[in-house]
Amino acid sequence: MKSLLNYPALYQAYQSAGGFFGARVKAIADYLELRSGMRVIDIGCGPGYILRYLPLGIDYVGFDIDQAYIDHATRAFGHLGDFHCRFFDADAAREFGGADVVMMNGVLHHISDQELGGTLANVRDVLKSDGVLFTLDGCYREGQSRIAKWLLDNDRGEFVRDRDGYDHVLSRTFENVDLAIRDDYSRVPYTFIIGISRKQLRSQSMR
Ligand SMILES: C[S@@+](CC[C@H](N)C(=O)[O-])C[C@H]1O[C@@H](n2cnc3c(N)ncnc32)[C@H](O)[C@@H]1O
Repeated sequence: MKSLLNYPALYQAYQSAGGFFGARVKAIADYLELRSGMRVIDIGCGPGYILRYLPLGIDYVGFDIDQAYIDHATRAFGHLGDFHCRFFDADAAREFGGADVVMMNGVLHHISDQELGGTLANVRDVLKSDGVLFTLDGCYREGQSRIAKWLLDNDRGEFVRDRDGYDHVLSRTFENVDLAIRDDYSRVPYTFIIGISRKQLRSQSMR
């Protein structure tokens, strides 16, 4: 089953059927303010379908390390953004600097704490001083549905964390980390954690 998800169209069908893709769309609408003209960098962009739901006129750049996903994204959405099959490393951060938003949708839970340290430092560098990192992942929490727990235990990502785990890894790099846990975003019972991380301190916090 997990290897079938390597096929871009099957991955997207699974995400859509379970409501996992809709959760991304809802979270972006609820927690991000995107406007035409903004530079948005999408790390771990997968097959690129999120572009259908972003405002026209954004300056979108997607990165993924999976060639099949990037080929699919380029064919389907290359007219709306640029896609690159490469790690988001320090060179990429220099090349694409000045981002308003970096999105990592369903990506943190694929990367170990140690590797994330380097990736998030590059994310920090690519963001403008008032830029925002948006993250969305599955999350363990006490009392969650057994179905959600089973799905998280069997995720392709090997680093699904609880709230403290995500807070720990994001707060090492960002001064201001707001996290929201949502169990109401998908048809299938599931627990999402949405992160908004900034270099600058702000008093406002998320529900
Ligand atoms: C669960 S998929 C999410 C895809 C898409 N963002 C979405 O919302 O459907 C995770 C993606 O992260 C990519 N990925 C994993 N580790 C990565 C890394 N270090 N840098 C860039 N992409 C990575 C994988 O290739 C995969 O496409």
